[in-house]
Amino acid sequence: MSRLIIVSNRLPFTIEKNEEGIFVRQSSGGLVSAIKSYFERPDKQSTDYSDKIWVGSMDAAEEDWNAVKDGPDLLTDFRVEPVFPDREQYEDYYNGFSNSTLWPLFHYFPTLVDYKKDYFEAYRDVNQQFAETIAKVYQPGDTIWVHDYQLMLLPQILREALPNATIGFFLHIPFPSYEIFRLLPSRWKRALLHGTLGADLVGFHTHDYVQHFIQSCKMILKVENQFTDILYKERVIKTELFPIGIDYQKFRDAITDEETVGIATSLEEKFYNQKIIFSVDRLDYTKGLDYRLDGYEEFLSRYPEWRERVVFILNIVPSRSMISAYMKRKSRIEEKVSTINGKFSSLHWQPLIYRYNHLSFEELCALYQVADAALITPLRDGMNLVAKEYVASCIDKGVLILSELTGAASELSEAVLVNPTDVEEVADGIATALTMHPIEQRSRLSNMQRRLASYDVFKWTSDFLGCLKETKAEQENLKIS
Ligand code: G6P
Repeated sequence: MSRLIIVSNRLPFTIEKNEEGIFVRQSSGGLVSAIKSYFERPDKQSTDYSDKIWVGSMDAAEEDWNAVKDGPDLLTDFRVEPVFPDREQYEDYYNGFSNSTLWPLFHYFPTLVDYKKDYFEAYRDVNQQFAETIAKVYQPGDTIWVHDYQLMLLPQILREALPNATIGFFLHIPFPSYEIFRLLPSRWKRALLHGTLGADLVGFHTHDYVQHFIQSCKMILKVENQFTDILYKERVIKTELFPIGIDYQKFRDAITDEETVGIATSLEEKFYNQKIIFSVDRLDYTKGLDYRLDGYEEFLSRYPEWRERVVFILNIVPSRSMISAYMKRKSRIEEKVSTINGKFSSLHWQPLIYRYNHLSFEELCALYQVADAALITPLRDGMNLVAKEYVASCIDKGVLILSELTGAASELSEAVLVNPTDVEEVADGIATALTMHPIEQRSRLSNMQRRLASYDVFKWTSDFLGCLKETKAEQENLKIS
């Protein structure tokens, strides 16, 4: 029996410390729910893994980790192997190369990219530290699954240390076109591709990202390819499309959850004479929040008949607040929120409700259920799970207004698709959503729901791991013949 080693920058929980003590907060991100649901619904394949280990960086001091690691709050089925990077090095790796170089570049914001040698060196060193932690726990036969842009050098470092290991890599953000990727200094772009190609299988959310990756490998590393197989240093690396899904059933179950129903009922009572538009995003310039607000302002100007009959609940979740590109956005958004409220509010009505905070799962589901429309308009997004969660939560009404520049747009074609920078199109999209006939709403929803139910997060995990196993077996056969 083999063991599964999941590797991501973040562990499935965070440790928080305040005057009252040390707390563990469970994470609910897409990857965590994918892996959890895979093991909660055992099938023939998931029971193949005798043990599961999660390797990730620890955002707390080693002594704080030691204080909680055997306690009741940890609530994880995984054996956890934390990596403890030096604080300063971690800053340059996380806030630096990961989130001030790769993140803006891969989301097509080249003017926000910081090209700093120190950042790259810290990134390389932290990837190396991850490899050392993995090497300590690795046993022959284990499957290692590395996640995301923070760890693109890791597959090759592991390949050199453990030549026969089964290694998968999945990129959760877009892989940009060659014209964007080539902006990186030569040494870095070669290192990132070489690093990723240490894996046996490299997965992406969309067909375009697969093609962009292959194109960059061909132009920069001069590799040969046969369709989606890449021949590199006498190994065949498979690239493949795996659009991540959500835990569909969890959102359907929330429809009857008592606490969620309570919150939903009170929201419906409060806004009984208004249509509700809802959005929730991390505070990130890629989410197109300024344009979204401009679109809503344009909607209120163009369609005055909707004034006093609609409310936009905009929830923003704090994120990466040490990076100036993020903090600058916050004040800009807050200014726009007050401008819109100042311009259109009456004594009895406020057009926009803005929250800058985390939402509980119950609050989130209640908002999804009562929203007549979800306005999800990132300027770029690898996938966007909020769009999928909203569709899964709708009962018998609801229209998704979705940016055509998200990975999810290629699967959710029944949404009202808009270009996020076209404020007039966004305004018209809102009007279309709010006036859509209930029969059409239900028909669009049920088509999308059927797809989300069948390609859920469980299927995503099992497809990736199944494909990785097959790829490895094919490689072994090639070696023998
Ligand atoms: C995106 C990335 C993830 C990341 C998440 C939250 O979804 O693909 O790798 O974990 O954002 O960002 P954070 O910087 O808080 O980990």
